[in-house]
Amino acid sequence: MKITAAITAVQGYVPPYILTNAELETMVDTTDEWITSRTGIKERHIQREPGKATSDMAAEAVKLLLAKKNLSPNDIDIILVATTTPDMLFPSTACILADKIGATNCWAYDISAACSGFLFALQNGASYIQSGQAKKVLVVGADKMSSIIDYTDRNTCVIFGDGCGCVLLEPNTEGLGVIDSLLRVDGSGRQFLNQKAGGSLNPATAETVAKREHYVYQEGKTVFKFAVKNMADVASQVMKRNNLTADDVTWLVPHQANLRIIEATREYVGLPAEKVMVNIQKYGNTTNGTIPLCLWEWESKLKKGDNLILATFGGGFTWGAIYLKWAY
Ligand code: UT7
Repeated sequence: MKITAAITAVQGYVPPYILTNAELETMVDTTDEWITSRTGIKERHIQREPGKATSDMAAEAVKLLLAKKNLSPNDIDIILVATTTPDMLFPSTACILADKIGATNCWAYDISAACSGFLFALQNGASYIQSGQAKKVLVVGADKMSSIIDYTDRNTCVIFGDGCGCVLLEPNTEGLGVIDSLLRVDGSGRQFLNQKAGGSLNPATAETVAKREHYVYQEGKTVFKFAVKNMADVASQVMKRNNLTADDVTWLVPHQANLRIIEATREYVGLPAEKVMVNIQKYGNTTNGTIPLCLWEWESKLKKGDNLILATFGGGFTWGAIYLKWAY
């Protein structure tokens, strides 16, 4: 019997502090009107507690997920953490997370694909389940974007927020779970969205700090154009090759980078607004957190057999879409 990888639980966590557009108006030359009309964002959550990192948000979410499913940390075979803001360059945030939740019976690693990381990790996790190599895989998307955002740069500081979502993948024999995926990269896009320093190309020096090269750099307009085209394109291709019309799709779950990109994708694939998960107004762009945070917030509305199209675009460039049948 064919084994598919089904999501059997989902959980989210966002830190308590809320940074509103009104507060941003006091920090940089911006307005609530500009932010709302250009991005759709009203507020975002920020992890302010000293000494807390990406792994701490992930640990909160995973502990809640395990409690919900009545599982012990040692039931988990593999932990995959998609993040762009790891606690450290090494060891991986996945290792730190395993320690913080007390998982001593698994292996774990990070996946780096900017805003597409969660979908890349989901496909990765699904492969372990489908091949029979694992029975329980935790796929986590977590980012403390505030740790790499320049709060004097109005071009980027209004967009991002902190947060985490995670899912549990388990084998399914009813044909539910991850059905198809189409994932892509184009590394020539790296010049438009990056963090210039802190890696092996430009290790940290007093100069890189003075030049503010440890923060997110984005050429917004260019990224916007690529995002609109590619996200819509893969979502539509995945629908077509699985013979799904707009009527067959129950939910579109888009990466939450900009409400205008979400709208353009929705229009291109021909779905009504009621079928699209949108929570960007509350969280901003949480990078790897956006898609699992949507699934978590919509969990009570999802039904067994629902057809979900997950779609994303991010730095790299990276992009992709996954067709998923909800399993519970
Ligand atoms: O998730 C990873 C992938 N990332 C994305 O998908 C993001 C894609 N890009 C975007 O979402 C949009 O390009 C932004 C939201 C980043 C910017 O929106 P835009 O409509 O493309 O604006 P723009 O960058 O072209 O800037 C238009 C004007 C500029 O002023 P001038 O040059 O026309 O005088 C900016 O300086 O808006 C100005 N501006 C702002 N004004 C008020 C830029 N940021 C702000 C701000 N408040 N926060």
